[in-house]
Amino acid sequence: MLRRLHPEQPDSFAFTSDNQAWAEAQITKYPEGRQASAIIPLLWRAQEQEGWLTRPAIEHVADMLDLAHIRALEVATFYFMFQLAPVGAVAHIQICGTLSCMICGAEDLVAVAKEKIAAKPHQISADGKFSWEEVECLGACSNAPMAQIGKDYYEDLTAESFAGIIDAMARGEVPTPGPQNGRYASEPAGGLTSLTDHEAGRDDLNISARMAMDIGDTIKRIDGTEVPLLAPWGRQSGDGLPAEAERPAPANRAKGKPADTTGVAKAEAPAKSKAKPPSKADPVPTAEVEEQAPELLTAARDGGADDLKRISGVGPKLEGVLNDLGFYHFDQIAAWGPAEIAWVDARLKFKGRIERDDWVSQAAAFAVEG
Ligand code: FES
Repeated sequence: MLRRLHPEQPDSFAFTSDNQAWAEAQITKYPEGRQASAIIPLLWRAQEQEGWLTRPAIEHVADMLDLAHIRALEVATFYFMFQLAPVGAVAHIQICGTLSCMICGAEDLVAVAKEKIAAKPHQISADGKFSWEEVECLGACSNAPMAQIGKDYYEDLTAESFAGIIDAMARGEVPTPGPQNGRYASEPAGGLTSLTDHEAGRDDLNISARMAMDIGDTIKRIDGTEVPLLAPWGRQSGDGLPAEAERPAPANRAKGKPADTTGVAKAEAPAKSKAKPPSKADPVPTAEVEEQAPELLTAARDGGADDLKRISGVGPKLEGVLNDLGFYHFDQIAAWGPAEIAWVDARLKFKGRIERDDWVSQAAAFAVEG
């Protein structure tokens, strides 16, 4: 299937304030220079908020991560879990059509979806409430056939129970997720034959279904208020929450032994690398270089500014930051040495990117091109 942006797009996108705080906390999970790794959780949260992934949302996430828009677009169009077209206002239903589910009746579920929602996948129902698609195995094969609706799995379905779930959702109800045939989880259909003690005193719902019902977020558009934001690694002393000094030490920190600047105690540090020691020709780590301001301009030269976004790793936001610092042309960046790189690096939000993406060589090539 061709995966491309929908022709009709909203003008803008913004996370709700709680989702924004959540997204910013996700970014802090990754080491300096690797913040782009947060792209999938951020795109996913944007989709959870809006129902589908719009172009402004993709670009907003790219800007948050200082990525070129095309890099975020590549991710969004590669993964089928990202919906690139509007979905039903109540729910988008994903019916598993892989082997176990197909053997156990997935075709009957697809027939129900065609009849009750729309003749074709990714079409929105006449009342605007639902859309559906057939997907690959969702990993609940022992409860086949099944469908994911919003955040949750509805399992052990029949055409009748599936139709009933759609009808209930259309009325504004949220049926309990999990097995729909009375099974607790994925035990034998005839009941447990061993470890039968497990049945005594247990909740009437398995843990997944219980959590889904307690949080109530099955088909809700997620605004960030559903679960408390927990990001203890980013908390500041004085906010009433555990500060850095009170947090448990990372597992690789040896008890009672002083840690070096990397936070790894000597006794726990990995065995010495057999790599050769750095020679004079090796690049000097930016952190060890004294900063020196490069030549800065107050405005672009006569011919106008170069398109610095051509440098891989420089997106529109980062280009704006570079312009604000006084860089408008490839030849300026091509002239940076280690001291100038250290100066610029100290002024960027995400460190280490200049050397990792080799901006200087890229800029030199573009400068030669003219
Ligand atoms: S085959 Fe349907 S969940 Fe695995």
